[in-house]
Amino acid sequence: MTDATPASAPGAGSSADGGPAKDKREHWSGQTAFILAAIGSAVGLGNIWRFPGEAYDHGGGAFMIPYLVALVTAGIPILLLEHGIGHRFRGSAPLSFRRISHRAEGVGWWHVAICFVIGLYYTAIIAWALSYFVFSFDLSYADDPAGFFQGDFLQVAEPGFSLDFVPGVLIPLAAIWVVTIVVLWLGVANGVERLNVVGIPLLVVTFTVLVVRALFLEGAADGLDALFTPDFAALSDPDVWVAAYGQIFFSLSLAYGVMITYASYRRRRSNVTSPGLVVAFGNSSFELLAGIGVFATIGFLASQQGVAVDDLEGLTGITLSFVTFPTVIAQMPGGELFGALFFGSLVVAGLTSLVSVLQTVSSALQDKFGWSPRRGALTVGIPSALISIVGFGTTTGLYLLDVMDQWSNQLGIVAGAILMIGAALWVARRGPELSRHLSAVSTFAVGRTWRIVINLVAVLLLYMFVDKFVTLLTDGYGGLPTWYLAAFGWGTLGFIAVVALAMPAFRWAKDHGEFHPWPSRAQLDLPPEPWQAADAVGGRGTTREGGAA
Ligand code: PHE
Repeated sequence: MTDATPASAPGAGSSADGGPAKDKREHWSGQTAFILAAIGSAVGLGNIWRFPGEAYDHGGGAFMIPYLVALVTAGIPILLLEHGIGHRFRGSAPLSFRRISHRAEGVGWWHVAICFVIGLYYTAIIAWALSYFVFSFDLSYADDPAGFFQGDFLQVAEPGFSLDFVPGVLIPLAAIWVVTIVVLWLGVANGVERLNVVGIPLLVVTFTVLVVRALFLEGAADGLDALFTPDFAALSDPDVWVAAYGQIFFSLSLAYGVMITYASYRRRRSNVTSPGLVVAFGNSSFELLAGIGVFATIGFLASQQGVAVDDLEGLTGITLSFVTFPTVIAQMPGGELFGALFFGSLVVAGLTSLVSVLQTVSSALQDKFGWSPRRGALTVGIPSALISIVGFGTTTGLYLLDVMDQWSNQLGIVAGAILMIGAALWVARRGPELSRHLSAVSTFAVGRTWRIVINLVAVLLLYMFVDKFVTLLTDGYGGLPTWYLAAFGWGTLGFIAVVALAMPAFRWAKDHGEFHPWPSRAQLDLPPEPWQAADAVGGRGTTREGGAA
């Protein structure tokens, strides 16, 4: 069921045959490049350190059931929704939403604001991983990994906000920012694409070597048992299901505007749904691989300490990577190489994700203000770098990171997903248009079931949002002082809301002209939009554009 030729066909992107008009948007060089870039965004710290711990905490092997259900009912449908929005409306998140409905532009800015926030602290983690990559060569962290991480390396002070810079963090942090800005400055095809085309295969190879090595460690089998032994009772616990959906959203970079932005750089004549499936399954495969590698390694740690895996702590997140893993590496023959592979993988996986969030911000500003990719890279990159260095290059960076992560990722994203579905499907009623668009250009069609599933996901998301909102409001977080949570947690959410409300008020400095989606509504067998029927300006299949008036 396809009436489109593949992206590589002669004449793709030209209007000679009555097909799509030429547009000047940057492009990926082809489908493979897009797939690698989307996988690059999806595969990140979430796969390596978040998934194994979430699975372990939420039923072990039984977690695979909610996880796969979440992948099929939310991950793939929402991924296709975002790829469909970006591909049909051909813009960064704000431009795409503006084309969906003039009132929806703010939804795109909500996503952009979250990306901006995440970019600030994601960089810090990559910088730590870069330092640890270097430390691996002489195992500087080996004697006392916990003390080394918080003391020697981060020099963590009491909670609060300090300006005591820590050079050992500041320098790698600045280095990561320079690399990121250069990649963005080079543009979509020469920068972002190249990073992923080199980085993703490299990551798969290094990580596979690491997993194979881990499987030969003493105790590896016990680790895998701990991860995969199912606790079916967990399936009746709603928290387990919420965790599975949360993991899928974070891991596939959904509701961040990233997938919309990346899909907008595809040519008009492109197969959209099948690559989406490749991205989704590719990401989950890597996640599983990471789970196996991490738990085999942890099994070794348990056997060295003569305890059961269940008695170990620190099996997720920052502690897993920067304390537990260094502890294992210190006890392992050939730990230097293992450490370098592990932290090197974190750097590469993190960098390809980081670039995707910043490209989302830069792309939005390019569309709104008519900036070149280079100007976007510098205007987004330099202030972000400075804020990130002030926030995270100091002795209090760890607290800030933790709090900003909770509020932006646990609340901001869930709200962003609800807003996206609400704007596109409920308010602007673009569901049929999007499913027909996806089916028309792709080899694999979607229809009513897809739209129904998305609506159901939205209901679940609403539950998740309220649940988390109430928990954070009543219980606080991490034992941190209330003023701190108000300033940096709720403050982060407030910042996102302000951006979403304020940005649409600015004039579009770039006139995008009249927008003609392709295939047109008529080609999709849809009636013209109501306002078109009324004033018949611009003919069928035209969406009035909100450029500078
Ligand atoms: N998907 C990434 C991960 O698994 C995280 C991420 C979220 C990256 C949003 C970009 C945008 O780590």
